[in-house]
Amino acid sequence: IRSEPLKVMISGAPASGKGTQCELIVQKFGLVHISTGDLLRAEVAAGTEIGKKAKEFMNAGQLVPDEIVTAMVAGRLSHEDAKQRGWLLDGYPRSLGQAQTLDKMQIRPDVYIVLDVPDEILIDRCVGRRLDPVTGKIYHLKFFPPETEEIKARLITRPDDTEEKVKSRLDIYKKNAEAASSSYSSITHKIDGSLSKDAVFKEIESLLSQLQQDKANIVKSG
Ligand code: AP5
Repeated sequence: IRSEPLKVMISGAPASGKGTQCELIVQKFGLVHISTGDLLRAEVAAGTEIGKKAKEFMNAGQLVPDEIVTAMVAGRLSHEDAKQRGWLLDGYPRSLGQAQTLDKMQIRPDVYIVLDVPDEILIDRCVGRRLDPVTGKIYHLKFFPPETEEIKARLITRPDDTEEKVKSRLDIYKKNAEAASSSYSSITHKIDGSLSKDAVFKEIESLLSQLQQDKANIVKSG
């Protein structure tokens, strides 16, 4: 008998390391990574209707209207791969309305991870962040420089990663975080995201391994 796959939400301020940890979680646990930021950036890059609507909000560091994002997430969660392999929802819900929508759809995670990082570190992380458009990998000029000159030459900077926009993103995060996470207080695990990438992952890995074990035990005893 197979146990139910893991359902994980990861949240935290801009540049708290969600995308970085998700790369590692996917490698180890094989979950389907659903990042609303990545999905929206892909729509913008492809010039779709959704992308055209979302672009201005994103570039200004504001939230994209709920109905656009929610339709995208609901669509992605209903794919067969997410049901089979489990999912890792990154950057959603980000408002009370989005959390209520998930409740209505009866979508509930096993665990709600919050990466906790002080503001001054966040700004440094954003301003130095670079993305590889070919592999989607996240780099940082100081902390995780690219491996080769070839990769370095093609790295791009996100338009919302200027110091001024990061501050406004952070304000919006702080205004919404409590309401967005209130449904999940009983399954919330706060992790110190200011530690090294490997140290943060070690904590997440042990948390998820334990959960996976618990789920397998439920299947055995049930
Ligand atoms: P989104 O892409 O979700 O942006 P975000 O929440 O601001 O988060 P980031 O992607 O900036 O950071 P991260 O936590 O993933 O950090 P990362 O791992 O890259 O959303 C973008 C926009 O889309 C929003 O502003 C909004 O407009 C829209 N949007 C998205 N979801 C929405 C929703 N639900 N509703 C409405 N609108 C929505 O790390 C950052 C940097 O730090 C990197 O350079 C990395 O290399 C480095 N780093 C990571 N970990 C460490 C470490 N431990 N030590 C040192 N450096 C580290």
